[in-house]
Amino acid sequence: MTGGAGYIGSHVCRLLQQRGETVIVADNMSNGIRSRIGDATLVEIDLSAPQATEVLSQVIKSHAITSVIHLAAQKQVGVSVDRPEWYYKQNIDGLTNLLLAMRQNNVTRFVFSSSAATYGMPNVGLVTEDELCQPINPYGETKLIGEWMSANAARAWGLRVANLRYFNVAGTGWPELADTTALNLVPIVFAAIKSGQPPRVFGDDYPTADGSCVRDYVHVLDLAEAHLAALDYLETENRPHSTFNIGTGIGSSVFEVLEVVRRVSGINFDIRVEPRRAGDPPALCANVDRIRETLGWKSRFGLQEIIESAWAAEQS
Ligand code: WQD
Repeated sequence: MTGGAGYIGSHVCRLLQQRGETVIVADNMSNGIRSRIGDATLVEIDLSAPQATEVLSQVIKSHAITSVIHLAAQKQVGVSVDRPEWYYKQNIDGLTNLLLAMRQNNVTRFVFSSSAATYGMPNVGLVTEDELCQPINPYGETKLIGEWMSANAARAWGLRVANLRYFNVAGTGWPELADTTALNLVPIVFAAIKSGQPPRVFGDDYPTADGSCVRDYVHVLDLAEAHLAALDYLETENRPHSTFNIGTGIGSSVFEVLEVVRRVSGINFDIRVEPRRAGDPPALCANVDRIRETLGWKSRFGLQEIIESAWAAEQS
């Protein structure tokens, strides 16, 4: 798998190891932590580097790899707007090099880490996978293009593909695998509280129940389980779908998340409402019927467990 030393990847890696699978991790270690992957073999590599296809081809051949889970990518919306060409290079060139190496060595199963950012700003409450994808930032575009690339590989040489559109991932399955990058709401709020600063709310005038943005927060352990369900699905011959939302189907507003953080942390912190952040859709929640009906997967944890697990890791 690629990106296996990261926050999400290490959860997938650990579940695979727990069920006895041999995992080879390719990671550029920009966000990766070696201790997260236990006895998995680590190949430190930038997938977008010119020689990556050759290196990956050797790794796939020498380890007789037949399935690839691809999580390695840049995923910051704001940075992608400022540096679109770097995002295309990292996310698209990286996937191109990986697919070339996979085809050269007859890899047949591919689970691709996609994103709800492929939808852009849909004006429906619960988004289904049939929604028209109109990404509004280069990051989301790279994920949609990645889905097209894997679909073309399926048509051209029979690659079995599952695209997993992550909604908002948070929480941790184990304290040592917690998200250490303060790039998303929950870790950003924790960092603010620890530094004694009021967490910021980017806009309270949205057309939502309490005026703040609504998102579908899914526990990283649930999300990791979905990757194993997707891998198993690729073993079946009858596969009606290749793209799946991964969420809970339940929306939580920023104010609601902050209220749960107050309750779990016992800290009655103030907040600071700021102007809206560019590119934020008012609401983005998953319709999760397809993954439940097709893969038999559904989320087990809600916002309370997500915040409790993340906060406990923060304290440990
Ligand atoms: C969540 C909500 C903010 C910080 C992005 C990507 C998506 C996925 C997850 C990878 C928004 C609000 C945030 C803060 C706030 N990444 N917020 N104050 O933007 O929903 O999704 O990350 O796959 O693809 O697009 O996540 O955590 O940045 O924000 O009010 O200090 O919290 O406005 O409504 P987002 P986020």
